[in-house]
Amino acid sequence: MTFDIIEVEKTRSTNDDIRKLAAAGYKEGTVVSANEQSCGRGTKGRSFISLKGGLYFSLLLRPKKADCITAMAAVAVLRALKKETGAPVGIKWTNDIYLCGKKICGILCESAFSNDSEPDFVVLGIGINLSYQHFTKELDNIATSLEKEGYSFDKKALLNRILCEFDDIYSVSKDWLDDYRKYSVILGKKITVIGHSESYEALAAGIDEEGHLNVKKENGDTVTLFSGEISVRLSKKDK
Ligand code: BTN
Repeated sequence: MTFDIIEVEKTRSTNDDIRKLAAAGYKEGTVVSANEQSCGRGTKGRSFISLKGGLYFSLLLRPKKADCITAMAAVAVLRALKKETGAPVGIKWTNDIYLCGKKICGILCESAFSNDSEPDFVVLGIGINLSYQHFTKELDNIATSLEKEGYSFDKKALLNRILCEFDDIYSVSKDWLDDYRKYSVILGKKITVIGHSESYEALAAGIDEEGHLNVKKENGDTVTLFSGEISVRLSKKDK
């Protein structure tokens, strides 16, 4: 894939920008990258605080199937961050990148369908906290940035590396699930599964070939969790 990168200082949401470009016929590989977003969007209808000095970008994809793109992107970001900065990052299923026990990156993948089978296009949006951020106290407990943890970075090089790592996984490689498992921060640990109607404690037992999480409940039952439907939180003593 070749990438056409459009850089902007500030926008509402790079995912929205790419949606518009996709509808206007722009090709796979188009990227919008911003230094700041005023209406950054996260998963589950949440907002994504996108203060000045971060890396916020979206990539236009035109795949036959949208399966596993979020998990592939998590591995691409993880590999790029390790290679470019040396930071000991991990993946919190399904799509958060963690550093020193706190979130440093979120991924939002949105698909547009006009019929049931093939997506018309997919927008892959990635937000990484780079600079020292003055978060609210509440956010400070759960989020961090590369600079805050003492890692230096070259923003352009990091973006290019993420795109290359993603292209490698998306177009060629089949081995990305190994790293998805190897660098999981929850596998083998006790987690709290937060569903719509119930929450329960379980052991994060494994990740299957589709990237689904298998958990073992305290009564011994095994449950498969599908991305997007459920949140997981590390139980306090396992953090
Ligand atoms: C999450 O953690 O909830 C997902 C966050 C995804 C944020 C990125 S930043 C670039 C792109 N534009 C958006 O509005 N959201 C994504």
